[in-house]
Amino acid sequence: MVFGPHPLQQGGAVLETTMSLTQLLRSGGDDRPAPPVTVQTLLEKRRTGEPITALTAYDYPTACLVDRAGIDLILVGDSVGMAVLGYESTLPVTMDEMVHHTRAVARGVRRALLVADMPFGSYHVSAEEAVRNAARLIKEAGAHAVKIEGGRTRAALVQRVVEAEIPVVAHIGLTPQSVHRMSGYQVQGRSTEAVEGLYADAAALQAAGAAAIVLEGIPREVAARITAQTSLPTIGIGAGPDCNGQILVFHDLFNLTFSPPAKFVRRYGDAAALFSNGLEQFRNDVLAGNFPGDAESYHLPRKVSAELAEAGLLEPVSAADGQREVLAHDAVQLREAGALNRMAGD
Ligand code: KIV
Repeated sequence: MVFGPHPLQQGGAVLETTMSLTQLLRSGGDDRPAPPVTVQTLLEKRRTGEPITALTAYDYPTACLVDRAGIDLILVGDSVGMAVLGYESTLPVTMDEMVHHTRAVARGVRRALLVADMPFGSYHVSAEEAVRNAARLIKEAGAHAVKIEGGRTRAALVQRVVEAEIPVVAHIGLTPQSVHRMSGYQVQGRSTEAVEGLYADAAALQAAGAAAIVLEGIPREVAARITAQTSLPTIGIGAGPDCNGQILVFHDLFNLTFSPPAKFVRRYGDAAALFSNGLEQFRNDVLAGNFPGDAESYHLPRKVSAELAEAGLLEPVSAADGQREVLAHDAVQLREAGALNRMAGD
């Protein structure tokens, strides 16, 4: 599959956005660029019953990996605060941090729909400020949509942002920015009243024009009912298998969180073990003098070596592995001779 720049990012003509996902995946074997995922694609997938795949990414390499894996939606979540920046919660994350990370991710995205989280405090003061901040994520950072946490109380705001031509992914249930109000990260929607509240939230966000809705940390039965009742594509995290799609945090998938995983996380690899192994080997190699080897070193051109040796400025030695004869230098003499200026080359 060949990836060109995401057409929504380069402002070029959008490629055949009405193409079905099946056709899209079929393009994997040839040279045609994969059509971009848009909010329309999410609706189409909901209609056809094809599951929506979504993951977080916070930087260029993870964005490249996730996008090239064919994941439909990449979320630069404010979970960046905990997963990457080491904060205790998502609350300290700033707009500038979201813009910074979203820009890095945007550089790696070719196909996926890029959604950026609006961090705590960026949409709570006024609708004007919320629209201004949402526009920053689109204009400065290259996102295609923003995500806003909250239900009925945010519906009017979601409508304002949508009226500013910015698609909004809503987010209800366990909304981490409400950690203090919820008294911790608790599964939501466990009483009749709370379940009715979630149904009302989904209906209000649909009426407000949201493009999709994340359902987090709610009972499977409740997520299934919301998915059946709303026309919005639902994307679950800890909400069971009956949603239109699933999202997880990249670092959870690969054991990079340094904390026990939540019940809904499935691990697909152990990057922590892979990295730790490699790091230990690197340390051991350096300590044992096994790194770098001759093949990982730069060398003087033969002519310069010969001239320096002739002038008594180098001591001839043979590379232990017999690769090529190298002349080890007397660091003090060379520094005095000003001969250590060259680093690049050879
Ligand atoms: O910030 C985040 O990562 C989220 C989740 C939906 C994954 O909001």
